[in-house]
Amino acid sequence: MKPYVLDNLADETVDRFRALETCYDGATRDFLRQTGVESGWRCLEIGAGGGSVGLWLSETVGPGGGVTVTDIEDIRLDSALADRANVSFVRHDIVNDALPEAEFDLIHARLVLILLPERLEVLRKLVRALRPGGWLVLEDFDCGWTPVLMTPNEGDAALYETVHARFLAAMTDSGADVLWARKSFAAFVAAGLTEIASSTFGMAWRGGSVGASLHRANTSQLADQIVGGDVTREMLERFWRLLDDPAFAVGSYPLVSVRGRRPLVSVPSDRSSR
Ligand SMILES: C[S@@+](CC[C@H](N)C(=O)[O-])C[C@H]1O[C@@H](n2cnc3c(N)ncnc32)[C@H](O)[C@@H]1O
Repeated sequence: MKPYVLDNLADETVDRFRALETCYDGATRDFLRQTGVESGWRCLEIGAGGGSVGLWLSETVGPGGGVTVTDIEDIRLDSALADRANVSFVRHDIVNDALPEAEFDLIHARLVLILLPERLEVLRKLVRALRPGGWLVLEDFDCGWTPVLMTPNEGDAALYETVHARFLAAMTDSGADVLWARKSFAAFVAAGLTEIASSTFGMAWRGGSVGASLHRANTSQLADQIVGGDVTREMLERFWRLLDDPAFAVGSYPLVSVRGRRPLVSVPSDRSSR
């Protein structure tokens, strides 16, 4: 397994989690509600990051339910999670560490499988960890559609696209599949899940907005990998100024949410490996 390049120890993580939670938690909660998650459910929240979704699940399932919250690092977890009696935090690597079988009513991971070269094996592991009838919900960015919507100056769209492409290349080098989200529906079918449904959420990010700050946090953290080839340090700094300029706007990463249910009767098998 390759190390996680946007590791949570870096200072930029605070801004990244704030942007993710501000921009996407509403869509995530709406999608999770469609599973019927309610009081008493046992949930697993993987790669919890700041922990806002784990906190919402904990409130939703109440004292009769429980949420196991995992991450390979717990450095940025919301301290409110620690106070919740129905939450247990486990430091856990979803690629290499074991999960209990047939345990959970709901398993959720946002922006985790996109990072992992072993994502299909992980998906099968998650299916086995569901109790029959339990729901798997995966959410990832489709990084292939982030159109520039408005620019202050000619040439700014090309600047955005050049620097952003270098960021995506750095992520790809680290093992991410930046287009995994558009393959996840088919992977749910191949894993034998039922009642599969998907929706995609996007918005405009204007310069200076919390959404635009996600690009700033990510490209600052990976600046050393981004600068080189067709991107100079001066271009990266112009890109950052663009992200602060209200005359600039770009489409957010579309968040693709997919859900599917472990069949009640038989253990699902991976049809893609036959
Ligand atoms: C992009 S962040 C997303 C955080 C959160 N899920 C959200 O959407 O706000 C990815 C998270 O996955 C965690 N992660 C990366 N590799 C992991 C692994 N192998 N097992 C568990 N968590 C992992 C990281 O530490 C990080 O917190």
